[in-house]
Amino acid sequence: MKIAFAVSEAAPFIKTGGLGDVAGALPDALAAAGHEITVFLPLYGRVKHGEYFDRFSFVAGFQTELGWRRQYTGLFTFCEGPGKPRFCFIDNEYYFDRTEGTGIYGEFDDGERFAFFSRAVIESLSRLEFVPDVIHCNDWQTALIPVFLRVFYPEYDGVRTLFTIHNIEYQGIMPFEFAGDVAGLFGKDAESVEFGGDVNLMKGAIERSDAVSTVSQTYSREIMYEYYSHGLHNILSSCSFKLHGIVNGIDTDVYNPATDPYIEANYSADDFDGKAKNKKFLQKTLGLKVNAKTPLIGMVSRLVPHKGIDLVERVIDEIVGCGVQFAVLGTGDERFEEMFRQAHARHPDMISASITFSSRLASQIYAGCDIFLMPSKSEPCGLSQMVAMRYGAVPVVRETGGLKDTVPAYRIIKREGRGFTFWDYNAHEMMGAVRRATAFYRAEPEEFAGLQKRNMLCDFSWSVSVKKYIELYRSLTDGE
Ligand code: GLC
Repeated sequence: MKIAFAVSEAAPFIKTGGLGDVAGALPDALAAAGHEITVFLPLYGRVKHGEYFDRFSFVAGFQTELGWRRQYTGLFTFCEGPGKPRFCFIDNEYYFDRTEGTGIYGEFDDGERFAFFSRAVIESLSRLEFVPDVIHCNDWQTALIPVFLRVFYPEYDGVRTLFTIHNIEYQGIMPFEFAGDVAGLFGKDAESVEFGGDVNLMKGAIERSDAVSTVSQTYSREIMYEYYSHGLHNILSSCSFKLHGIVNGIDTDVYNPATDPYIEANYSADDFDGKAKNKKFLQKTLGLKVNAKTPLIGMVSRLVPHKGIDLVERVIDEIVGCGVQFAVLGTGDERFEEMFRQAHARHPDMISASITFSSRLASQIYAGCDIFLMPSKSEPCGLSQMVAMRYGAVPVVRETGGLKDTVPAYRIIKREGRGFTFWDYNAHEMMGAVRRATAFYRAEPEEFAGLQKRNMLCDFSWSVSVKKYIELYRSLTDGE
C-alpha cells in the first residue's frame, strides 16, 4: 500500500517523547513489510542544523496558501535505501527555525505553524508525484489534514484518512477567529472545527477522518468517558463506529539488554546473571545501600500529574518503611521534583532522585531494578512498562489504557500474567500492589525470577501491530 504518515516528531531526527519513538519505529516496520511509506515532518531548525541534513535532497520550492497568506514551502527528502521509509521534510524557516525554547512546541503561534505544516503536506503530494491510499495523521498538529483534504482538494476524494490520538490531553484549541484567519475555513467548514465556542482541531479531525485510532484498545474505550476525554467524550461516542485501538510496540533492537551499551553487564532470559550485576552497579552509582536482597523499585517518567506521581508522594515513606529502595529518573513539575529531592534527603541510602533526562541512566534503571512502577492516572499506551519487562523488571501499574493491555495481572497460583496491578486511583491501592510485588520477590525468589524471564521473552516488537494497521488501512480502501 501507499501511505503518507504525517507527524510532528520522529526519532532519530527529532524527539520529545513517546510519539517520536512511535513515529520512528512504525513507518520503519511498515516499510519493512513491503509498503511504500513517506513520513512528513517539519524541518525544524534543530534538524536543519543537525547531523542528518547533509544527506537530504532538495526536491521543490513553492507557495502554500494559508488563509490570506502565501508561504514559502521547501521540500527535502531523505531515504536510507530500499525497504526503508522515505522522509519528506517541510521547510519554512519563519515557522520552524526558532531558537527560543525547544523550537518544536510551545511557541506563541503553534496553531499557525502546524496549520501551515498540515496544508503543506497535502500540497507536497503532487510535487512528489505521490498519491497515497491513506494519509495517516497523528495528534492535533496534523489534525487539519483530514479537514483541508475534504474542503480544498476534491481531486483527492479517493484518498482515505486515519487520525491517531496519542494523547487526548492536547487538542489544538485556538480562538474561533483562527478558523477563518489562519485555516481559511468559513461557514460549515469553520463549524466542523468548532467546539465549545473555540476552534478545536482534534475535534475536527475526529469528525472528518475516515477512521480514528488510539494507541491501545482500552484507551479507545476510556476516551468515550468524561473521566478520560478532556471534554471530547460525546464527539468520540458519536464516532465510535470508526474508532479503533492498536497497541504500540517498542524498538526491540534499541531496547535490548543483550546488546545495550549503556548497562554494566549484558544479559538475556537464558543468561540472567547479568541482571544482579546491574542491580549492584545501580545501587552503587546512585549511592543506595548495596544489598542484593533489598527490593529495588525503579521509575522513569515525566514528573507530571497524569503519571500518578501524587500517589507516590503520598506513600513514599511507607514504601521505604517496608525496607524497599526507590530510584526515580525524570523531570517535570517543580512540585514533584522537589518532593523527590526531599524524600532522598530524608532517606539517602534508600531513595535516589535523578532529576534530569538521561538515556544512559534510564537503561541502567531498567536493567538494575527488580520492580518498575507506573501508576498513571491515564496512559494512552505507555512504552516504559514494555521496556521494563524486556529488561526483566516486573511492572506495578494502574489498570488503565495501554498499561492494562500490556500488563495483565499476575496470578501467583496459575503463574499467569506479567505484573502487579491496581484499579482505583488511590495511593493505598497502589501501595497494596507494591506490597504484593515485594512480598512475592522476598518469599519466592525463584518464582519471581521465572516471571522476570518470561516477561523478557514476550514479543513487544511492532510486528503484531503493523499487521493490524495494514488491516485497518485496507478496510478503508477496500471497495474504492
Ligand atoms: C503519548 C502517550 C503515551 C504513548 C505515546 C506514543 O506520549 O502519552 O502513552 O505511548 O504517546 O503513542
